[in-house]
Amino acid sequence: MTSRQDFEQLDASDPLASLRDLFDLPEGLIYLDGNSLGAMPRTTAARMQRVIQSEWGRDLIQSWNKAGWMDLPRRVGDKIARLVGVGPGEVVVADSTSVNLFKVLSAAMRIVKEDQPHRHVILSETTNFPSDLYIAESLAQVHGFRLELAEAGAIPSRLSDQVAVLLLTQVNYRTGRLHHMAALTRAAHRAGTLAIWDLAHSTGALPVNLMGDGSSEEAADFAVGCGYKFLNGGPGAPAFVWCHPRHVERSWQPLSGWLGHSAPFEFTPGYRPAPDIGRYLCGTPPVLSLAALECGVDSLLAAEPMGGLEALREKSIALSESFIHLAEERCAGFGLSLVTPRESGQRGSQVSFAHAHGYPIMQALIARRVIGDFRAPDLLRFGITPIYTRYVDVWDAVEQLRAVLDGEEWRDARFNARGIVT
Ligand SMILES: Cc1ncc(COP(=O)(O)O)c(C=O)c1O
Repeated sequence: MTSRQDFEQLDASDPLASLRDLFDLPEGLIYLDGNSLGAMPRTTAARMQRVIQSEWGRDLIQSWNKAGWMDLPRRVGDKIARLVGVGPGEVVVADSTSVNLFKVLSAAMRIVKEDQPHRHVILSETTNFPSDLYIAESLAQVHGFRLELAEAGAIPSRLSDQVAVLLLTQVNYRTGRLHHMAALTRAAHRAGTLAIWDLAHSTGALPVNLMGDGSSEEAADFAVGCGYKFLNGGPGAPAFVWCHPRHVERSWQPLSGWLGHSAPFEFTPGYRPAPDIGRYLCGTPPVLSLAALECGVDSLLAAEPMGGLEALREKSIALSESFIHLAEERCAGFGLSLVTPRESGQRGSQVSFAHAHGYPIMQALIARRVIGDFRAPDLLRFGITPIYTRYVDVWDAVEQLRAVLDGEEWRDARFNARGIVT
């Protein structure tokens, strides 16, 4: 593969190529940031207009029932369930990933307190997403637990009879490293530890199977995930939450708002949680955001007849391998070093390179209409979103990267002034 034509050829023979048409992407822009904010599905604008003008504007409060607003958290949850290997009625959409993590971590800690009161450790990964660690730190303080952190490779050896909960993000936001979810869940369960997974960078990017091989050893205990990255739900889209059915009835999450009540519209004085995953809801659903998220999730489900996430994963691997290979070949000698694991089975759907001048280089690249992002101190992140990323995008992005590295423009003051980090 040594020319742009070769990459055009790959797009021409790509059976998934038509899925890109589901998205409204600006002409001439190479968008490699779907791991941070997914692109807008073509259906979203019309759907938003309908919800605003007709459902809200005309039908007003009747739309809670008439337009199915009240069902949205569960209806969209059922659709997301198909992307993470669990059944209908097991997932709800609500709040943010951080808030949902607060709920499931609280519930898990309470279960362990009842069953194994001697355990007081929450174990996580040193480079887990900071918000997850902040939430864990705070809950550990409130409940007299301790947060312990380990490097990815050391996690199995740190599981002990002291560890109450293992809290991991399946795909690392910086490096793109993919954890073996089933193996780590099994290891946790063998140690008597509950496993919580943050699926923010994996849902919609690769096949996720929360149930493992179906055994209680491999099935995870709780999961949360994000709506605005690979699910293309729009900025600030609500997140989702899953609790294994074996825990639901006894799991208690402390944000006991009215919508998590078993009979929310009776408005009775005492809190009685819903018997199912509905207890993880808290307050009034954000209807506009949920409607936009449904469009994003539907665009992924539209890939099901073409092989769904398995097929998208294959394409993601092919795109990522090409990106790595081309960047290393064409940008050799310019100080880039691969941070993402080289082995495709250990990678999510992003490629990260370190460079001493990563910030201005990414700004210069963005000025050339190649959108990736930067994470301090030195990471250039390139999200690969196989539902809309083309092979030719990979070629063009690397050509632009090479041009930036080979030139002087990244030294320009406007690229070095730290502003909003994209
Ligand atoms: C892995 C991970 N967890 C949690 C979050 C926080 O999500 P939210 O801002 O929706 O709470 C993010 C956001 O990027 C994330 O990447």
